[in-house]
Amino acid sequence: MSFHQDFVWGAATAAYQIEGAAREDGKGPSVWDMCSRIPGFVKDGHTGDIACNHYYRYKEDVQLMKEIGLGAYRLSISWPRVLPEGTGRLNEKGLDFYDRLIDELLNNGITPYVTLFHWDYPQELFKRGGWLNPDSPDWFAEYTKVISDRLSDRVTNWFTQNEPQCYLGLGHSTGTHAPGLKLGHAEFLQATHNSLLAHGKAVQVLRQTSRRPCQIGYAPVGITSYPSDPAPDNIEAARQRTFSITEPHFWMNTWYMDPVLLGRYPEDGLQVFEPWLPEIKSGDMETICQPLDYLGLNIYHGTPTQMGSDHKPEVIPNHDGYPQTLIRWTVSPESLYWGPKFFHERYGLPIVITENGLSSMDWVSLDGKVHDAQRIDFLHRYLREYRRAAADGVPVKGYFCWSFMDNFEWAEGYNERFGLVHVDYRDGKRTIKDSGYWYKSVIESNGDKL
Ligand code: NOJ
Repeated sequence: MSFHQDFVWGAATAAYQIEGAAREDGKGPSVWDMCSRIPGFVKDGHTGDIACNHYYRYKEDVQLMKEIGLGAYRLSISWPRVLPEGTGRLNEKGLDFYDRLIDELLNNGITPYVTLFHWDYPQELFKRGGWLNPDSPDWFAEYTKVISDRLSDRVTNWFTQNEPQCYLGLGHSTGTHAPGLKLGHAEFLQATHNSLLAHGKAVQVLRQTSRRPCQIGYAPVGITSYPSDPAPDNIEAARQRTFSITEPHFWMNTWYMDPVLLGRYPEDGLQVFEPWLPEIKSGDMETICQPLDYLGLNIYHGTPTQMGSDHKPEVIPNHDGYPQTLIRWTVSPESLYWGPKFFHERYGLPIVITENGLSSMDWVSLDGKVHDAQRIDFLHRYLREYRRAAADGVPVKGYFCWSFMDNFEWAEGYNERFGLVHVDYRDGKRTIKDSGYWYKSVIESNGDKL
């Protein structure tokens, strides 16, 4: 029972959460720069202005990655750092930063996996309507071309977008994430359609312009229901709940994934959203559905489900005192077995876990170390389940722990620590946590020791 010998062991971050240097070297503002200034938007008034100061400390960070033994690092590019207005004028200094970072990673034997968009949308484009503007897919294609021209001689693994459920749902429907919009269903679905077109166009641009053969994926949240026990009925209930849309809300899988991977919106969603459907022009679905090499999934937890007596999926409530992480997500390792299995079954692609991990209360102990035993136990349980999926024949290509280091957790600010590396935000000091060393031993044994 083990992972394939080419299995990719990595960790992930995102630009706005770690870079800092929010107004330096010609970077333009993003919607997160804009919203984090609004009183009450982010807990305790935190911003990403300095964050982990990775923009200046990236060399030290790459050495820490090397020490942990990471084979791969998933990073994102800040769109307004390279195109301050979102389109048009290039910021050479911003591009230089990513050039240097990619070189530093490669020189240290770490393969970069680059996410083009991890939520820090250029404020200037937001002012022009953002994802509601019919030109927005072309803006994303232009940005993708800039990045491909500059980095595709060295970067060969890409993700177009991270967690559309969050930047669209939380950002454009509930308004708790940037840009803080509370759109009605019709506008929300139009913005979503435009972002799906943007994904498709970005894949086309990468295929046409990459200087080397490359692999491209998409990294949605894999919202997973799993069976309360392996009775066939309960497995079917969990599968149905993972892939159905029963009411109009944004927290689902198929609306974001079926167009990309199957070339059509799901039938049940078309019925549920019938009064608010976006304008779907001829050729749109073909543009959205470009061949991909793997499906990225961010999975942190899942929902136990059984088949109800009415033959509908039924959620099993959590028992009193159930295990949960600091951010109040359930500890549910089964999601890393059933998630990859169900999503592979439906979409047929190899799976990469692009994020998984937990937030916990970590601090530097009197002995100068960070004893995060709960993170070790959490990752251990989840990775065992992931390995079980591999043993059962699900083609799993890799695993990226969220996160390489503690960072700015969006609306929660610096209050949630997800890292394998602890960051003291007063002086930026980094300390590899016990889990970082534990992960190193897992990587060295290719997961055999789990
Ligand atoms: C989802 C997001 O992609 C990432 O930015 C975030 O910090 C983690 N999951 C934890 O919430």
